[in-house]
Amino acid sequence: MIRKWGKKSYQDYFELILKDEKAQKEFLDRLTINVTEFFRNPDKWEELKNKYLPQLLKESGSKFKAWSAGCSSGEEPYSLAILLEELKAPLGAKVLATDIDINILDKARRGAYEERSLVSTPKKYIEKYFEYRDGLYYVKPTVKARVMFKRHNLLQDPFEKNFDLILCRNVVIYFEMKAKEELYRKFAESLRKGGIIFVGSTERIFNYRQIGLEVVSPFFYKKVK
Ligand SMILES: C[S@@+](CC[C@H](N)C(=O)[O-])C[C@H]1O[C@@H](n2cnc3c(N)ncnc32)[C@H](O)[C@@H]1O
Repeated sequence: MIRKWGKKSYQDYFELILKDEKAQKEFLDRLTINVTEFFRNPDKWEELKNKYLPQLLKESGSKFKAWSAGCSSGEEPYSLAILLEELKAPLGAKVLATDIDINILDKARRGAYEERSLVSTPKKYIEKYFEYRDGLYYVKPTVKARVMFKRHNLLQDPFEKNFDLILCRNVVIYFEMKAKEELYRKFAESLRKGGIIFVGSTERIFNYRQIGLEVVSPFFYKKVK
């Protein structure tokens, strides 16, 4: 992190995070590893909704299958389920949501969130897809019905195949380079041809060509082989 920001000492880096909002957010995200929110990086979700989801749904219809890998407390897979509702995807279009942390998965299944989880969520989605009760926003059953939560360790457990879309965002930060490369290779194998991987906004798949992917835009890769 220090090198990434061009700093030579902890002191310089510390001064930077005190005054630079982006550096500060990144630092905090790394400290609090379950940190997430609905529609994190909203412009990327708009891109997903407008550019990739319609085509993927057209191709797979009710067999559409997505995977939110490292889903934390559920904000990411529920965001995707909201977009599926918005696009009137067939009821069979589903999201598998996995994480290594069973406690966080309990929270995800409950689907109740504080207002701060919704800061990047368009107001119209909040009105349509959440119920507000006693200070919390509850994800509506139609959205919940599309998501299946399961414990899964990305570094150990077998991967399902034939996904149309894989989201793995802000998970690999602590992984060694070799583990990251292996993970992306396994993700690529788990996608169907034409499927998309959506990564976090500080992440890159360096070995994308080798594993049969092409860059369709920053943070989105498509399986071509
Ligand atoms: C910062 S959260 C990211 C949440 C969401 N993807 C997002 O971008 O908002 C990282 C999540 O990755 C999970 N995680 C870390 N190592 C994992 C592993 N080996 N297998 C599965 N999940 C893992 C953590 O438990 C945590 O919930």
